[in-house]
Amino acid sequence: MTNGWKLKSIAAIGAIAVLLTGCFNSGGNSHGMDHSNMNGMDHSNMNMGQQQDRQQNKNNTAAKPAVMTGREFTLTAKSSNQDLAPGKTLPVWTFNNSVPGPEIRVKQGDPIKVTLKNELPEPVSIHWHGYPVPNAMDGIPGVTQNAVQRGQTFTYKFQANVPGTYWYHSHQDSVNQVDRGLYGAFIVEPKDGTKVDRDYTLVLDEWMSAGMNMSGSSTRGANMSGMNHSNMNMSGSNDKEGKSLDHGRMNMDNGGHDMSMYDLFTINGKSGSLVNKLPVKKGEKVRIRLINAGYLTHQIHLHGHEFKITASDGQPIHNPGILKDSVVTIAPGERYDIEFEANNPGQWLIEDHGENKAVAGMKAVIAYEGVAAGSDKPNDKEKLPVVDLTRYGQAGKMNFTLDQKYAMEYTMNLNTEMKNGDMVYTINGKTFPETEPIKVKKGDTVKVRLVNNSKTDDHPMHLHGHFFQVLSKNGKPLEGSPVIKDTLNLKPGEEYVVAFEADNEGNWMFHCHDLHHASAGMVTELKYTDYKTDFIPDPNAGNKPE
Ligand code: C2O
Ligand code: CU
Repeated sequence: MTNGWKLKSIAAIGAIAVLLTGCFNSGGNSHGMDHSNMNGMDHSNMNMGQQQDRQQNKNNTAAKPAVMTGREFTLTAKSSNQDLAPGKTLPVWTFNNSVPGPEIRVKQGDPIKVTLKNELPEPVSIHWHGYPVPNAMDGIPGVTQNAVQRGQTFTYKFQANVPGTYWYHSHQDSVNQVDRGLYGAFIVEPKDGTKVDRDYTLVLDEWMSAGMNMSGSSTRGANMSGMNHSNMNMSGSNDKEGKSLDHGRMNMDNGGHDMSMYDLFTINGKSGSLVNKLPVKKGEKVRIRLINAGYLTHQIHLHGHEFKITASDGQPIHNPGILKDSVVTIAPGERYDIEFEANNPGQWLIEDHGENKAVAGMKAVIAYEGVAAGSDKPNDKEKLPVVDLTRYGQAGKMNFTLDQKYAMEYTMNLNTEMKNGDMVYTINGKTFPETEPIKVKKGDTVKVRLVNNSKTDDHPMHLHGHFFQVLSKNGKPLEGSPVIKDTLNLKPGEEYVVAFEADNEGNWMFHCHDLHHASAGMVTELKYTDYKTDFIPDPNAGNKPE
């Protein structure tokens, strides 16, 4: 019943916000914007909470995403308005008044404490995506905690033992809340690791500039099976704009959700000319941490430089080889760290490649200090070789093998099906919470075979609380570096075998990170049968775990 939540607030604001992220930048405060065009908005479709919220926030303008270091942090969930593209300001949900929220940067081994304060009209939570936290800190409403209500707080405490690139996001009604902007980067610096001169984080996302219908945001209770997922309509949208979209690589499920509505791609919450430049100096070693917080897969191309992929999902690649003019495919929820030496002065793009028009907005410029732009141009329609992680780097120590004995073996057949007129996304023919959990005891070795039977849908499958090793793809054992991940994308027809040790007790989600698919069924759980939790779900908390 909340038609056009994003749409109604598109306002042309003529301020140019020069926002910088990355830990070597400073300044760039974007206050003093002209809010005169924000009046006359139609609030008739909003519920009371949202109206109040809008009243409070109509003059609120998003700030520069900060980098926060130390051991104790506060993240306040609140609404704001952010200039995503030139002339496009959308209402957003933020942590600390920016999308992405602040980058949290901590040191390996440190005890971390993050207090979440909720000032939004809906309950929220924080999940530490990819991070092996104790189960009670995993942020899953109804599973590990109650959703944090407006005006309330929750404190997350854990030890940052594993270095790498991670991210955090709300796991309450996450298909909608992550879409609105409730996410940020979580970086754990290694005790001893390679030093780089520049360390940039690029968080990728997609938006619907034409507004969206928030399914279920007024639906209370943890009942997921009764949700109607077919109501992502084009209400109030600019039809011309919608129809002129290039649907080439889009997911056009009939009756499901139309991914072509995501027509505005952003890097760190900015699109096109608003994306921050990445300053470098000749001779510097540069790391770029790519994080995909969106629901579409992107193909990232670094211009003008040789590079290496040094980590995937925070885990190091063993002896990575040198790459050039290849695209790095990054699926929803995944992270890739790339490194290069700045040895080619000029201004070079790092950009998304693909058929979709919106890729034009997902570009950042690597700008050598004091050097004028060279001849580099976007070539985002060009088809370049795709890096194949299953044969990249050098073989190294494997924790698991294909033919060893496993205490638990599980097959996940992933599919897209029609059930009672709704498009659903199934695991072994079932939707959550009817899906069969993976039941383990602490210390068990677990082998999971994942098969994507969907005709057109990718399924980036994400396991909470654990890393798994990828053992084979389409029946072929991996050749290069061991690949350890928490999010693995399966294209239609693909089959992977992964293995892990059940070493972190609790109840953990294993789900598709196209969160539309998760909210329409593609979720199961890894359950430790001996695990006793003292958490008791509050039926009035409105917990929506998926
Ligand atoms: Cu990033 Cu269960 O999710
Ligand atoms: Cu999926």
